[in-house]
Amino acid sequence: MCRVAFLLAVVTLIFPATEELDNGLALRPTMGWLHWERFMCNTDCDRDPDDCISERLYMRMADVMVKEGWKEAGYEYVCIDDCWPSRQRDARGRLQADPKRFPGGIEKLASYVHSKGLKLGIYADVGKNTCAGYPGSLGYYETDAQTFADWGVDLLKFDGCFMEWTLLGEGYINMSKALNKTGRSILYSCEWPLYEWPFHQPNYTAIRETCNHWRNFADVYDSWSSVKSILAWTASHQDIIVPSAGPGGWNDPDMLVIGNFGLSHDQQESQMALWTIMAAPLLMSNDLRDICPRSKELLQNRRIIDISQDPLAEQGYRTAEVDSFEVWERPLAQNRLAVAVLNKQEIGGPRGFVVGAVPGWKICDPGCNVTQILPRYKEMGVQARHSQMVLSVNPSGTALLTVTPVHADFRRLRKLHWQDLSVRQKPATVL
Ligand code: GLA
Repeated sequence: MCRVAFLLAVVTLIFPATEELDNGLALRPTMGWLHWERFMCNTDCDRDPDDCISERLYMRMADVMVKEGWKEAGYEYVCIDDCWPSRQRDARGRLQADPKRFPGGIEKLASYVHSKGLKLGIYADVGKNTCAGYPGSLGYYETDAQTFADWGVDLLKFDGCFMEWTLLGEGYINMSKALNKTGRSILYSCEWPLYEWPFHQPNYTAIRETCNHWRNFADVYDSWSSVKSILAWTASHQDIIVPSAGPGGWNDPDMLVIGNFGLSHDQQESQMALWTIMAAPLLMSNDLRDICPRSKELLQNRRIIDISQDPLAEQGYRTAEVDSFEVWERPLAQNRLAVAVLNKQEIGGPRGFVVGAVPGWKICDPGCNVTQILPRYKEMGVQARHSQMVLSVNPSGTALLTVTPVHADFRRLRKLHWQDLSVRQKPATVL
């Protein structure tokens, strides 16, 4: 008995209950909707009642998520971003929602969202103010964590504006502890590395221990140049950031802007395919009340979502750049592979890419069963190791495939897969 107590004490010392992120959340990339890119800081509810940041917006979005198949497809979190609070804390120092725009308060909104079988996300900031100038959480981490828990909030996006950069780590860790201390499971979405990169290389071990996902790079805009810049940053830092992704912690390249104004349909397909290869949180920022059927179909594509949520839970890499094509690959469970071929040439028509040139195609010995998912679903049959099959890819579009080895000897295949594909050890093969 005495020994058991001693052991327990040792275990408690090594793994203190409130220290680390032990919320058991985000075992697969988070899926949901987040208001920022589409609705920003529109607080003018007199002039713009339907699109302003108010409880109505989230309630309607939750309604549509249930009615229009979003929830069924896996999109679960309805997330508030900046500009929701009142400019002042209440008499007890707690954040409060703007009373005019959120007459029912966040607690009531959370119950509404929960009644739809969805979860509610909220936004706060590690520093003195939020990026849009609303009250920040500096000096109030425990109060704010407890307030969010009392309200029934399920996710916190914690921004990094108005904070001395040397104190960012401490701030993010302290908020993580405060969230754990509440006893409520609150998914913790950070921007810690984004604000540290200008000064030094962030400590991704600490970040992964603290956050469920983390933004690394600038805000996404509704444009192809923005999506491209995020892909370029990710590929050029993949050796540093990819190894830290896995169940419970993900690199966050920011929101999906599919269904808005700035991307052509091919570019929307590219964002969806590449975000999936990157095992990114799939947080849409668009107007689900008014979205074109093609964008909706793309966002709800079951085969793409299956790649996103694959049980192996590994982030993919860019594995080749050749002739203005980029090849990205993500290992999947059961020795399968997802392959995305992006045509970066923004002039001319569709161009052909020979699948046998995909670096991971090595696993297709003697052959692979190939399914094309984008630009349209097509079973491509069994393709050999040196297949000359050509994918036709539109300018700024992406072909997305899944590749399943067919083989006589399963053990031989496993060996091949892990020795030869092992993109983690040999990333960024530039042809
Ligand atoms: C920062 C974040 C954005 C958004 C805004 C809100 O720019 O990176 O995602 O939350 O602040 O002000």
